[in-house]
Amino acid sequence: MKIIHIAAECYPAAKVGGLGDVLGALGKYLKLAGHDGGVVIPKHSSKYILSHTWEVVFDSKVQLGENSFEYHIYTNSKNELGFNLFLVDIKGLLNREQVYGYHDDSIRFISFQTATLDWIIKTNQFPDVIHVHDHHAALIPFMVKHCAYFKELKETPTILTIHNGQYQGAMDWSNNIVLPNWDSKQSGLLDWNNAFNPLACGVRCAWKVSTVSVGYLNELRYQSNGLESLFEAEWNKCIGILNGIDTQVWNPESDIAIVQCYNVSNFEKYKVKNKEILCSQFGLNPEWPLFVFIGRLVWEKAADIIPQSINAAFAALGRELNFLVLGSGDPNIENEFSKIKEGNEGCYNVYIGYNEELSHMIYAAADFILMPSRVEPCGLNQLYAMRYGTIPIVNNTGGLHDTVIDISEYDGYGIKMDTASENDIVVSISRAIDLYAQKETMTKIKKQIMQLDFSWDKSINNYINLYKSLTQ
Ligand code: ADP
Ligand code: GLC
Repeated sequence: MKIIHIAAECYPAAKVGGLGDVLGALGKYLKLAGHDGGVVIPKHSSKYILSHTWEVVFDSKVQLGENSFEYHIYTNSKNELGFNLFLVDIKGLLNREQVYGYHDDSIRFISFQTATLDWIIKTNQFPDVIHVHDHHAALIPFMVKHCAYFKELKETPTILTIHNGQYQGAMDWSNNIVLPNWDSKQSGLLDWNNAFNPLACGVRCAWKVSTVSVGYLNELRYQSNGLESLFEAEWNKCIGILNGIDTQVWNPESDIAIVQCYNVSNFEKYKVKNKEILCSQFGLNPEWPLFVFIGRLVWEKAADIIPQSINAAFAALGRELNFLVLGSGDPNIENEFSKIKEGNEGCYNVYIGYNEELSHMIYAAADFILMPSRVEPCGLNQLYAMRYGTIPIVNNTGGLHDTVIDISEYDGYGIKMDTASENDIVVSISRAIDLYAQKETMTKIKKQIMQLDFSWDKSINNYINLYKSLTQ
């Protein structure tokens, strides 16, 4: 089959979070399974894109009423990624350093979607399925159905995968001027609560809607940032497919970003070397348990309550424990994480910023990873951490609910809390400290989690079956 994925991020070309990882892996593992197509993203001015060679494969112009714009499609001629990655460039709009966060994001992503469909039609490369991800590409199912301009794609099945329903791309109705002429009788499909809402529109118009875990799918009916009744109404076409992880990129046995590689047979001897080195780099004590947090410093991740919880943990449990944080996001939260360095030297440190290599080293060095997320559609951090023998401490929500079993249960291997609260975080850390003292149990659990199979080899078949159900 020929499957075209359309999204804002794709690892390694452009990554802000898990969306990028998943697109990079979907491209690669679908190709390995014998399927064609590829991934299309904007040509961001990211480090990777700027430092690699891209070949122009198509140039054209879209005319939207009185407005028009030129676009260029690039690809990776050397096939370094193992799958086709196409980059859409619209000068001045898409060639920016950051993936998101600009005042004109709405116009940028509508233009990106328009250019992508225009290119597919003008080059007659009709796919079997168009698979779009999150709100940045969620208008496409509407566009192929209701914009005369794209009528040749009208019968092509569309899938929308929701990686995060908190972000819907809702905008003022005035932005729809950049959408190619659409059937005005269908304006209801674009509207949600008197705003122009791409994610809601995608849920209504896509042939199928998937999300990245069954646990999160079930939550969407009760908690989806205002779209609850929509999910209730469209429930029959919704499905949960758990993400996988790229076990080639995330492999402690061959990871060039970590100091000492290891595997399930020798981790007892070698994982700790990474801890010693990381602790010395950040002024921490390798004798004590190392708790880490990696991620976007935003409300969904409960990052706002972590600094106070770290202080509360020191107050309640003593100071023979270390915390290391890697993250960036809300400037106020970043500031709180920096502020608590004072007074906690020797047992707390933070790196504010995005650092892919350091993240690998942290997964390898840590004893426990903390994820008290309020919302976590899948979560990849806990899956990477487990592959590196690092025990997850998670809030019992979404994909965390589905992938972690508490140590109090049969064959359990993680620590779960019931609410994202300071109290539950401190109680969970206290449980982890007790576990850390039981050396044999720690070793057994580390061995167990390193062998859990969350690979794409398993998850990719669920997508392939979904594509087949729409095309046969
Ligand atoms: P989300 O997509 O909601 O941010 P996920 O758990 O799905 O959460 O994926 C997060 C991804 O981003 C992981 O690959 C994680 O290692 C990475 N990541 C997050 N923050 C940083 C950071 N500051 N530096 C390096 N990698 C990061
Ligand atoms: C989103 C979610 C995260 C998920 C990722 C990849 O960013 O917040 O939970 O793992 O997408 O699907």
